[in-house]
Amino acid sequence: MPLEEPDLTAFPPGFTWGAATSAYQIEGAVKEDGRSPSIWDTFCRVPGAVAGGDTGDVACDHYHRWQGDVALMKDLRLNAYRFSIAWPRVLPDGGGPPNPAGLAFYDRLVDALLESGLTPHATLYHWDLPQVLQDRGGWPERETARRFADYAAVVADTLGDRVRHWATLNEPLCSAWIGHLEGAMAPGLTDLTAAVRASHHLLLAHGLGAQALRAAVPGAQVGITNILTASEPATDREEDVAAARRDDGHNNRWWLDPLHGRGYPADMLEVYGVEPPAEPGDMETIAAPLDWLGVNYYRRSITVDDPSGPAPYARPVTHPGTPRTGMDWEVHPDRLESVLLRVHRDYAPRAMYVTENGAAYPDEVTPDGHVHDADRTAYLESHLAACARAARQGAPLEGYFVWSLMDNFEWAYGYAQRFGLVHVDFGTQARTIKDSGRRYAELIDAHLHPRVRSGS
Ligand code: IFM
Repeated sequence: MPLEEPDLTAFPPGFTWGAATSAYQIEGAVKEDGRSPSIWDTFCRVPGAVAGGDTGDVACDHYHRWQGDVALMKDLRLNAYRFSIAWPRVLPDGGGPPNPAGLAFYDRLVDALLESGLTPHATLYHWDLPQVLQDRGGWPERETARRFADYAAVVADTLGDRVRHWATLNEPLCSAWIGHLEGAMAPGLTDLTAAVRASHHLLLAHGLGAQALRAAVPGAQVGITNILTASEPATDREEDVAAARRDDGHNNRWWLDPLHGRGYPADMLEVYGVEPPAEPGDMETIAAPLDWLGVNYYRRSITVDDPSGPAPYARPVTHPGTPRTGMDWEVHPDRLESVLLRVHRDYAPRAMYVTENGAAYPDEVTPDGHVHDADRTAYLESHLAACARAARQGAPLEGYFVWSLMDNFEWAYGYAQRFGLVHVDFGTQARTIKDSGRRYAELIDAHLHPRVRSGS
């Protein structure tokens, strides 16, 4: 891929340069210090659910190696770290009394981040619902949203004196659609009614959680991260154009419209034919103004009409000849620019972050002790260049987080897909900063500490 130097001057001086992870993907220690099982512990035990039968039992062993991992963040020159908190560590019974040992882990982590000059960006929910709550019905039940608000209050109470940046949920789309409709993620259901119910209760949980955070943390900056795409028809046939519109509704508008006070998109209500279980006041709770909106971007989405497939009846197709990552995802940085500009134009968030962007490639440590991941380096540069173009055109972009800090448990793909800036040997837990990590550090340095050019 041709290298594209990002125009770093497009980013404001206080720009946030980070990397992201999530609890179940890196922590391991699933049975330690009172943590209870999450729906992912259960899902990993379903035969065939996860490639290679992998689990998050050990993952990157971050629960024990967090100090070394914070040191790596410093080596990478990051000024922020986005991580998630494991609900089953903090409230092993889903609600009720908090688990002091679970909270203490995040307490220590936050202190260490701050001591190292890194701003913590905490996400409350990155898919690891306590199994006890799933046993009571999970996200299709309203009670789960109420429990989430209690959980948000407990975490805010402990960390809110030091953490200002909060995300309620990460990619509720994956929890609702992939977890309840496609069955490829926990809890593994294929039930459209359950999926629509789950989507509403996830959004409600966001709204209630935001209230709890704001009540407990003066000056809290509360947002949510959505995985967004650019939906395009594979052909200009009318049916495919309509399919792309449904794909956009399913992936983007179903989430962004209610968050911005527009309710659920009418066309998608018709497509699903399922009424979300909204009670009076819910839509207002969901639409409380966000302090920032997180965009997770990986790829565009090209679809054809598929009347016999699952909702939204739009089947993804591949475009021959475009470079692809290890996940077989097309590399298309231009669409990151268009997604950012579309969100800016259509929803006008006060501030935006790219809260995830990155690529998996089959990296290995070579005999020279390095990881020469030229593809990922090019991916990051071209996507940062796209961010810079969007910022120049007015998108209020305040930060960028690479997915991911380090190789980790990639959900149903297990450990086969490596997204990290840091290579992890899952046998020894040895960490090696990849060439892409070194390049990212150089770019951060160049932006935060620009050299004064002689003669200029
Ligand atoms: O690993 C995931 C992450 O948990 C959520 N966003 C997409 C990433 C890559 O698939």
